[in-house]
Amino acid sequence: MASRLPDPGPDERAHSDRLLQLLRTQIAAHGPIPFAQYMERCLYAPGLGYYSAGKTKFGEAGDFVTAPELGGLFAQCIANAMHPVLAMLGSEADFLELGGGSGAFAEAVLRAFGAAGTLPRRYLILEPSADLRDRQRERLAAALPAALNARVAWLDQPPEEEWRGVLFANEVVDALPTTRFTLRAGEVYEEHVALDGEGRLVRTDRPADALVSGAVRHLERDLGQPFADGYRSEVLPQLPYWVQAVAGTLSAGVMLFVDYGYVRREYYLPERSDGTLMAHYRHHAHNDPLHWPGLNDLTASVDFTALAEAGNSAGFGVAAYLPQAQLLLASGLQVAFEQAHAQAGDDFARHRLAQEVRRLTMPEQMGERFQAMLFARGLDVLPLAAELLAADQGGRL
Ligand SMILES: C[S@@+](CC[C@H](N)C(=O)[O-])C[C@H]1O[C@@H](n2cnc3c(N)ncnc32)[C@H](O)[C@@H]1O
Repeated sequence: MASRLPDPGPDERAHSDRLLQLLRTQIAAHGPIPFAQYMERCLYAPGLGYYSAGKTKFGEAGDFVTAPELGGLFAQCIANAMHPVLAMLGSEADFLELGGGSGAFAEAVLRAFGAAGTLPRRYLILEPSADLRDRQRERLAAALPAALNARVAWLDQPPEEEWRGVLFANEVVDALPTTRFTLRAGEVYEEHVALDGEGRLVRTDRPADALVSGAVRHLERDLGQPFADGYRSEVLPQLPYWVQAVAGTLSAGVMLFVDYGYVRREYYLPERSDGTLMAHYRHHAHNDPLHWPGLNDLTASVDFTALAEAGNSAGFGVAAYLPQAQLLLASGLQVAFEQAHAQAGDDFARHRLAQEVRRLTMPEQMGERFQAMLFARGLDVLPLAAELLAADQGGRL
């Protein structure tokens, strides 16, 4: 399967070889590493990982396209949906974006808030990749009026002081390093990455520790049956700690996560017996995470039931869970499209807008593959549009 993938150039090969060398040294010294640690190295190893080494290619010419990269409609709708939250919380409300990518979302949403007169006091970006942070900084400084750009600040870690406002993350949970597990004779094993006799990376299973076994047993209990022998999938045992870490100090406000994924009983369908792990390389999706480490984006779909549990245990209530298409349509997509269409300079721009709407909303594209989960805490009333709340499918969780 890897043979139909485009070949990397010499620089890319050399880059991947450096990461490979690092992995080999670590495995030779300490033994096989859990898959989650391998994924963490591949995505975030300083200067070498996919997200930390200038290798990330967003957009049409890159490895994958996210909703904010398609144009401004996605951010306009999120601004429409979050506008009442910021308006209710008043002049001290902040907006915290996790994982800002190319900065496309920040640019468009700040313009939209500016136009609506509900600018957050500060627009905070929590971005672990130094390379992406630089790219975001350059983009926003060049694109935004100084008064908007002045509100933007980057965080090295989640806010330590209590704050109020909106926390937003598009396609971030799918990028969290995932644990892979399998079952053998009823016992839980964790997938590791080891070296074969010739120094090549190979995947191998080892008995799971208590954290991973406990997380898998929780899934089985919740699903009402044990996983079959040989069944393999992903789980994020650290998700509750992560949500607590990023949102623990949000005392009043809303969190909105958008990502591809499923409710638990759809995620762990018996026929999905090798999980949801995907690698992306120049718009080719494949399933070999060991192929050219550092050059591929690695992701796993989100178990939204697990995200709901994690939010609940951090003290938030799920306010709504709905497909991306419903979120955008309930947040003014039609009007946003018509306004942008009326302002578009030529047929090409109008065609692109129509394409953007299709990709954002068609079920087999992002419309239903992607889901949105809203959480709230510390609010007397829920400042969300009635259409949005009416589209809630939280009963499916
Ligand atoms: C697939 S990209 C999505 C980027 C952007 N949100 C978009 O929609 O275009 C994943 C982003 O999440 C960031 N990220 C990964 N782990 C993170 C974490 N623990 N906290 C915050 N951001 C994280 C990555 O560096 C990257 O910016």
